[in-house]
Amino acid sequence: MLKTCLFPAAGYGTRFLPATKSLPKEMLPILTKPLIHYGVDEALEAGMDSMAFVTGRGKRALEDYFDISYELEHQIAGSSKEPLLAEIRQLMNKCSFSFTRQNEMKGLGHAIYTGRGLVNDEAFGVVLADDLCINEDGEGVLSQMTKIYEKYRCSIVAVMEVPREQTASYGVISGRAIDDSLIMVDDMVEKPNPDEAPSNLAIIGRYILTPDIFSILERTAPGKNGEVQITDALKTQALEGMVLALKFKGRRFDCGSLHGFVEATNYFYEREYGKDNS
Ligand code: UTP
Repeated sequence: MLKTCLFPAAGYGTRFLPATKSLPKEMLPILTKPLIHYGVDEALEAGMDSMAFVTGRGKRALEDYFDISYELEHQIAGSSKEPLLAEIRQLMNKCSFSFTRQNEMKGLGHAIYTGRGLVNDEAFGVVLADDLCINEDGEGVLSQMTKIYEKYRCSIVAVMEVPREQTASYGVISGRAIDDSLIMVDDMVEKPNPDEAPSNLAIIGRYILTPDIFSILERTAPGKNGEVQITDALKTQALEGMVLALKFKGRRFDCGSLHGFVEATNYFYEREYGKDNS
């Protein structure tokens, strides 16, 4: 039922400099697939087939990745290398791709607002591809959120418990438990210090947003770090209507940090090749 997934991918990725001087962070590979490919896989699994990207200067590689590479494909046609492209080809056949640019890096909220032209007047998913999520035991995180959306028809954020001392790295929520995994949000703070955090439930890079978020973003003043924060707009939405937080099943790797990136690489390597090495 949700058709579009928005991928804000305009950030500078400074934690991966110098690599990100000329390479979008979202193109860094975990094994042989770039982070953005995992994100699109997850959106597709959740039933979305219209992939919308908010990119920026120096991010052309993202557009090229989801396009045909005639010269290369001609070169390896019929060779043993050709199957290596099978997965991306299949992915390209299953969805459409659209792109817009955020000219100035004014924050995630501003990036999402910039993507409004790619999203029809209907709810949509948001994936921050540097958060790589997996659920070995069942459906992906976005798919879990889609189920909740179908029931409640409001914006949803994915949350996980983090150690208190890490709250300053996340948007943090508080609210009233509806059941073991679902919370009705009543407060949200962007990157609070541990002593100011309303809880230790941190928002990760998966959202489902209802389209009224755009008019809220329009009137949301820059917040933390002078950036337009999606957390601030969601707090308004929670106070004026309803926002839910889902404690998702599965695991999230923070691939925007070196530690998380290496952790994900090791995890996927072990999963893919572990048995061969034993
Ligand atoms: P981050 O703050 O994690 O990303 O933003 P960053 O700025 O790329 O990374 P560092 O901290 O410098 O290493 C979270 C997400 O929001 C997007 C980023 O691309 C990332 O997916 N974003 C952030 C935008 O698209 N535009 C912005 O103005 C800010």
